[in-house]
Amino acid sequence: MNGQTRCDPCVILVFGATGDLARRKIFPALHALQRKGFLHAATPIVGVTRQAMSRQSFIDSLELELKLDAGAGGAQDAQPVEGASAGADAFPDLVHCVDFDYTQATLPAFVEFVDRISAQTNAGGNRAVYFALPADVFEKTATLLVQGRLFKDGAWRRIAFEKPFGQDLASAEDLNTKITCHFDEHEIYRIDHYLGKELVRNIMVLRFANPLFSQMWNAEFVDHVQITIAETLGVENRAGYYEQAGAVRDMLQNHLMQVLALTAMETPASLDADDVRDAMVRVIESLRPPTRDDFVLGQFGEGESDGRPVPGYRQEKGVDPQSATDTFVALRACVDSPRWSGVPFFLRTGKRMARKVAEANVVLRDQPCGLFNGESSVQGVPGPNLVSIRIQPNEGISVEFNVKVPGDGMRLETVAMEHCHHCVYGINTPEAYEILLQEFLRGDPTLFTRWDFVRASWLHIDRLMQLRANEPVSFPNYAAGTSGPPEAEALLGGGRRWLVSRDILY
Ligand code: BG6
Repeated sequence: MNGQTRCDPCVILVFGATGDLARRKIFPALHALQRKGFLHAATPIVGVTRQAMSRQSFIDSLELELKLDAGAGGAQDAQPVEGASAGADAFPDLVHCVDFDYTQATLPAFVEFVDRISAQTNAGGNRAVYFALPADVFEKTATLLVQGRLFKDGAWRRIAFEKPFGQDLASAEDLNTKITCHFDEHEIYRIDHYLGKELVRNIMVLRFANPLFSQMWNAEFVDHVQITIAETLGVENRAGYYEQAGAVRDMLQNHLMQVLALTAMETPASLDADDVRDAMVRVIESLRPPTRDDFVLGQFGEGESDGRPVPGYRQEKGVDPQSATDTFVALRACVDSPRWSGVPFFLRTGKRMARKVAEANVVLRDQPCGLFNGESSVQGVPGPNLVSIRIQPNEGISVEFNVKVPGDGMRLETVAMEHCHHCVYGINTPEAYEILLQEFLRGDPTLFTRWDFVRASWLHIDRLMQLRANEPVSFPNYAAGTSGPPEAEALLGGGRRWLVSRDILY
């Protein structure tokens, strides 16, 4: 990744600018980048809306200060850095808005508006386009922009797509074929916001910058790996999307697969974007095809969340009362490589689970000599050594190992050595979208999903979905506020249990 401190002049276009994602994540992230001095002064940001709005009401709708203080990295993150403009907030001066109804008829006026803003601000011909839009309009919108000559010869153009990229392999391939008619792979930035999370980015550093961990990161030492992304929320106001997606498509196909790839990959040839992504893709391509015994699906029924009663999934607003959509999935994945021979990777995610937590737990094998096992003079059984990467909350890394409790005799206890990342560097700083937008504007694709990764992961997910097709469902099968269906526990086998690392709060 390059260390360019300021992006090139360009026009940034945000489609879907009045949507939730744009308001909660994209504009606050751009605001934070402007405060840090990363945005060039000639970087107009054009919010594209469906309804006509005045520029001022659009800026007001972004509630910029409020969001920056409340969410996008906190006030600490909002401090201007060296080279950044001090004093009055200059961000609103960069923000413009234009309405566009996605038709040929209004296309010339739309492009003319963008060209005019570009000329007024000396932004030149570079265009960075962010699609915070439903996936079914990606292709149509991209085609219109090309036809309307939004992009200029001799200048760069980049286009960022939010997930989901397709609903299955066939639809993803179709979308990709249409988009690559107009854009080269190096111009396409497929967003997976987990790749922007600091502790996800730390996985490579932990593994490849530390002999302590790199030596043991293989089948000789590792018994199994668990990756959990659990949420306490239900589907909120997204039933329309979630009914079609479910946990498998919404989380497993993308976020969990990315964390799996980073955890299991071989050492990349270099830190170049393509070398890193080559190594990640190889993991997904080497996954053994799943059998029906390799996964458990679930859907939550009524229960409790944060101490208050909550309805079941089928009772949520906009959900079919007979819905067969999965809100939970646990998968046993086998990476077919000498490094991971015989080491299962267990992935799980769910809505309305007991607590919100995302982490990767690497569980080491028992000590082969067994000196302290079954010895009558020893009290307590040595627990497994465990390396936990806590993606959120309480970002950090801990290592669990056994010690002797002080005093007479030999009593063993498992303790944890802790790197509290958020204590040292702050909570969620910078926010994932800020990192991703910065890399997008720099033109570094390392943190974006390449097409072959999307294809490999859909291939795996399609096989899984085919195995469950036409199966009678007996949902709901877990209560809201619990850790998922009991069958997910049995999936682990071998006396294993799902782990959640100890929280050491400072
Ligand atoms: C999104 C999913 O990609 O990730 C949501 O569509 C999910 O359903 C969200 O809630 C989780 O992200 P985070 O950053 O809160 O773990």
